[in-house]
Amino acid sequence: MCGIVGYVGTENAVDIIISSLKKLEYRGYDSAGITVLNQKLETYKTVGKIADLEKIIPANFTGHIGIGHTRWATHGKPETRNAHPHLSSNIAVVHNGIIENYMKLKEKLISQGYEFLSDTDTEVIAHLLHSTIKNNTQFSLLDAVRHVMNEMEGSYAIAVLYTAEPDHIVLARKDSPLVIGLGNNGFFAASDVTAFLRYTKNAVYVNDKELVLISPTGVEFYNNDGQQIEKKVDIIEWDEEAAEKAGYEHFMLKEIHEQSASIQDTYAGKISELEGRVILDELKMSDDQLKNLQRITIIACGTSWNAGCVGKYLFESLAGIHTDIETASEFRYGDPVLCGQVFTLAITQSGETADTLAAIRSSKAYGCKAAAITNVVGSSITRETDSVLFTRAGPEIGVAATKTFTAQLIILYLMAIHMGTVRGRLTPENARDILVGIKQLPGQVQKVLNNKNIIKECAEHYAKVQDYFFIGRHVNYPVSLEGALKLKEISYIHAEGYAAGELKHGPLALISSETPVVAIATKGHTYEKVLSNIKEVKARGAEVIAIANQSDTEINKYVDMVLRIPDCHELLSPVLSSVVLQLLAYYTAYARGCSIDKPRNLAKSVTVE
Ligand code: G6P
Repeated sequence: MCGIVGYVGTENAVDIIISSLKKLEYRGYDSAGITVLNQKLETYKTVGKIADLEKIIPANFTGHIGIGHTRWATHGKPETRNAHPHLSSNIAVVHNGIIENYMKLKEKLISQGYEFLSDTDTEVIAHLLHSTIKNNTQFSLLDAVRHVMNEMEGSYAIAVLYTAEPDHIVLARKDSPLVIGLGNNGFFAASDVTAFLRYTKNAVYVNDKELVLISPTGVEFYNNDGQQIEKKVDIIEWDEEAAEKAGYEHFMLKEIHEQSASIQDTYAGKISELEGRVILDELKMSDDQLKNLQRITIIACGTSWNAGCVGKYLFESLAGIHTDIETASEFRYGDPVLCGQVFTLAITQSGETADTLAAIRSSKAYGCKAAAITNVVGSSITRETDSVLFTRAGPEIGVAATKTFTAQLIILYLMAIHMGTVRGRLTPENARDILVGIKQLPGQVQKVLNNKNIIKECAEHYAKVQDYFFIGRHVNYPVSLEGALKLKEISYIHAEGYAAGELKHGPLALISSETPVVAIATKGHTYEKVLSNIKEVKARGAEVIAIANQSDTEINKYVDMVLRIPDCHELLSPVLSSVVLQLLAYYTAYARGCSIDKPRNLAKSVTVE
């Protein structure tokens, strides 16, 4: 995830910015850059690590005001020209977030004669500021930033330098974190406090649509109307290690809590709710190609495979396309029956899983068009496929996938709705219904997170059992698989996910009072059937934990414990139920004293067979 930093004061800005950027390395990044203002703007940037940036910085590069950035590619590959800061003549900008309407703004700026050197959305901000100041000569940098904020849609935390106002940095935020540090020898700005904790523990958190001006003599905060405002100073008690995890004890817990934002970032700019359609140009498939599509073959491993399983239900029910889901390691040595009309879809958060890469290569040998869903711009899968749909979950450090899984689901919803609309299976009204539901997910995920204590109690209650079962039907069947996988991965409890209707064909023999069963019993066309399956396992003595909708008053009669999710469209419930199951796995592993972020024997990215 990108990180921004800024410093103005009496110390050497270069040293402070470099050391602050190093503190943001844990967020994950692929390139970095720095600009210092010494009458003119002097910029260095490179692909790679901060250590690589240090190598290209000359020894005499110093100054007292500057900005820096670690970039985690979202628009454009990890290349030096895409690294920040981005410049427009006498203006330099670093940015964390996504400008959703950047293409429209870019076209406008190109028509005004601006030349773009990068593929990023951020360069638009630099040119937009330049053009705003040029057209409004009375504007200060602060005025210009305020003006430009009204033109930009999306999320941003930005820091701007302007040679005509050489003693301050202007910053602004919307939906991306930004915090100001108040030191004795200067003022700091950063995406998170980790960046400057070694210099000061006094911090002010910037709220949405607020602007900040930092100079060697002080800090001024403004609201979006341009009025100066007072802000509270917080004293940060965390040490640097705790700060990297934003105060959470584990990266996994932090990443679970980031899902409301990562879901929003993933669908940003892709939903036209008004027209009831999805904008998915990245898929690079014409309407005719989509109409003629006969089959989709999804190829993935692990958690991504579980997401693909949900995808199968979505493509079949929303778009009417026959869909297979294949385990990459099996597919690559099988004898798949494929032809040019089959579209293969690789799902891989890392973009580097060896089996998935090999399987997609072999599918291409049959002449199939291939697409990928991945979280990492520039990863190997992006070079192996005809098109790429990026999840924008930000780097995931915990080995057990959480926010990348829900982001994959979001892309699958968007693809299925897009295909269903083009193929005439979904009316704009039907599509709009689900799209409205998708836009409600961030708030609903937050509600689930707010109720985590009951999930924690449940986890602690059953933490000592040796076996767990997870059951569900339709889209909730793969959710049960993912719930079981999460629990296995980090708590080392044996867990099985089952299609609820399949229990009676074997596993029912294992059900007893020692095996709690998590039943995903959200409202939908299979709800009554799942109730029957709950009765089946209750009759064998099992204790049942149900995941159910908020308004379901009936479920309590049948089960021992209920974990609630907000009411939602039946196809969207997997996102919310998964968050519950992630928390259940997390708190179970926590109660058992397991190594949560780095479970035994597992790796985040499996680049070997
Ligand atoms: C590893 C990880 C899993 C992940 C799987 C597939 O086993 O530990 O969390 O689901 O790889 O990874 P991918 O990057 O292809 O999604």
